[in-house]
Amino acid sequence: MSGLPRAASRALDTALDRTVVPGFSRVGYAVRRRLPTWPADPGVGSLAGRHVAVTGASSGLGRRAALDLAALGASVHLVVRDAGRGDRVAAEVDRAVGRVGAARVWLCDVSDLESVRSFSEAFLASGLPLRALVHNAGALPETRTTSAQDHEMTMALHVLGPVLMTELLLPSLSADAGRVVFVTSGGMYTQALPVLDPDFEQGEYTGAVAYARSKRGQVELLPVLAQRWATASGVSVHATHPGWASTPGLDASLPRFSAALRPVLRSDAVGTDTTTWLVATEPAPASGLLWHDRRPRPTSVLGRTRPTEDERTRFWQWVADSTGLAG
Ligand SMILES: NC(=O)c1ccc[n+]([C@@H]2O[C@H](COP(=O)([O-])OP(=O)(O)OC[C@H]3O[C@@H](n4cnc5c(N)ncnc54)[C@H](OP(=O)(O)O)[C@@H]3O)[C@@H](O)[C@H]2O)c1
Repeated sequence: MSGLPRAASRALDTALDRTVVPGFSRVGYAVRRRLPTWPADPGVGSLAGRHVAVTGASSGLGRRAALDLAALGASVHLVVRDAGRGDRVAAEVDRAVGRVGAARVWLCDVSDLESVRSFSEAFLASGLPLRALVHNAGALPETRTTSAQDHEMTMALHVLGPVLMTELLLPSLSADAGRVVFVTSGGMYTQALPVLDPDFEQGEYTGAVAYARSKRGQVELLPVLAQRWATASGVSVHATHPGWASTPGLDASLPRFSAALRPVLRSDAVGTDTTTWLVATEPAPASGLLWHDRRPRPTSVLGRTRPTEDERTRFWQWVADSTGLAG
């Protein structure tokens, strides 16, 4: 397929994306990797001497991202809520790259804004510059649960905590032309921005809908955050969805889906490929876009899920008010 003309290569990639099942599965990645439009892998040692923080690095895609980023030379900071699980991954990273101290563990419950403040303060005190902050921590609770500040859990974990953490870490990020990566989900294509009910207080709660709404929130904030963080600190922001990857989280939260698609699920390494690429590729990819398999993708495919500018502004105002940031 490497002999395919570039226009045909792009058309095939787009067709895989729009037909969803082939594109999101391991098939999509296997085909795209062979196309002439596939961007080059980051060079060996491309992150040597750089610091990268990954939230939710104790499992699944976060663990894999930590391993792959360390393999490119980065010092990785595992931002986790369970010290024992974090220590196990840190030891695994050190062993894999043969560098004692390649990984360091930091405790933070990303859904709890006070915990986010404590972690960010401690990280800032270390004085380390951050090349990238990967917002990977995620969950899909079965029933409606709330965060320490009484926000619906997925919105707190996927939107409020990450936005506040980034804002507080801007001094570290701006010290190394930082890149912020949201690991979002293709599930967000099914839901609109919940401007009128961001905490899912009305209607019948289902975890999958709440999850998809919060992931939609991550994606719709991209233009706002890209402008805000570039202006303040020269920091870029990106979102990527991994497709469907075999992880403990997928097995636990969507067991039937995971079992049915098992033969075509991506490996964790494939699921996290674009995250690693966004952090390590040079020059930095354009800020404010949604990526999948190393290419920008549309943020909406259904008209009903596309917000107006006014809705996006109101959602951002809710995020700013909820996190105590100036809007
Ligand atoms: N796998 C897929 O197919 C898929 C598809 C689309 C999007 N994603 C996204 O990819 C990311 C990783 O998911 P995964 O599949 O790798 O799931 P996973 O195996 O369950 O990993 C999730 C990670 O998030 C951490 N986490 C959960 N709540 C947290 C909190 N309050 N504070 C700090 N960390 C917390 C977990 O920590 P513990 O170890 O302590 O539980 C775990 O390390 C998520 O954002 C998910 O939405 C995955």
